[in-house]
Amino acid sequence: MTASTEIFQDRMLSLGLARVSEAAAMASAKLIGRGDEKSADQAAVNAMREQLNLLDIAGVVVIGEGERDEAPMLYIGEEVGTGNGPGVDIALDPLEGTTLTAKDMPNALTVIAMGPRGSMLHAPDVYMDKLAIGPGYADGVVSLEMSPRERVEALAKAKGCGPDNITVCILERPRHEEVIAEVRSTGAAIRLITDGDVAGVMHCAEAATTGIDMYMGEGGAPEGVLAAAALKCMGGQMWGRLVFRNADERGRAEKAGIEDFDRIYARDEMVTQDVIFAATGVTDGNLLPGIRREVGYLTAETILMRSKTGSVRRMSYRNPTA
Ligand code: FBP
Repeated sequence: MTASTEIFQDRMLSLGLARVSEAAAMASAKLIGRGDEKSADQAAVNAMREQLNLLDIAGVVVIGEGERDEAPMLYIGEEVGTGNGPGVDIALDPLEGTTLTAKDMPNALTVIAMGPRGSMLHAPDVYMDKLAIGPGYADGVVSLEMSPRERVEALAKAKGCGPDNITVCILERPRHEEVIAEVRSTGAAIRLITDGDVAGVMHCAEAATTGIDMYMGEGGAPEGVLAAAALKCMGGQMWGRLVFRNADERGRAEKAGIEDFDRIYARDEMVTQDVIFAATGVTDGNLLPGIRREVGYLTAETILMRSKTGSVRRMSYRNPTA
């Protein structure tokens, strides 16, 4: 596939992207609550890849299922699309929340973002320390350099309330014990999630609906780039810093072209140009309902967004099962 010079027609491509996201969610539907994470993920991957390859793009997966040698499909560097169309970067997670799906717990999504070639950080598969807030606040009102207490207090001041009116979303992990204790000591509430921090970050952008003001903590770096793409469309601020636990992880970063291991990436440094973003609910969540079943039909709801216009479209798709 040769790099195309065609312009990235985000408006035209966006509906195609929604189809890709819908197909992955529909395919994983029969595995919701079946206790089989691998099969649920595989079904979503197969469907996403099949639909992606129908799009007239010369796409390259920059955030995917893993390195070529560890992922048979949708691996980083895989070329997707018909090859007839603009050169684009693609970040995807065919099933964000495999455990949530297997256990039929809330907020599992299928997620995909597309932008012009070179528009997305090639994040290695390591952790990222993340901080996100919704729209409407002054630039830099909170920062990764602040302590969790300082972040809560600064956000409360900016919101015009006390810390007890702030809710922070955090992944429930032993590595977050101290952060959780410090946030609790301010009087703020914490929405603990067991998985799915792309949804966790997105929830900040619709605080009135979700009740979440701020997201913080370490989760997957690839999910960080996907969340940055979502917030670029929805509005809101986000920062991420890669976290390395050993030499192997540093090696992964070097391979991905990362030079400064301590760098803090702002939202628009993770996603540098306008993107389109689609997510479909797999299990019921605060932003999107999950797949609904009736005898003979499945219905999926998708959120489709373009950062260029800030448009947010919600679409319901009902389809016969066979
Ligand atoms: P999967 O869908 O691959 O299971 O990832 C879910 C997730 O919870 C992400 O949302 C999050 O970024 C990451 O896993 C956290 O990693 P860990 O489970 O190692 O703490």
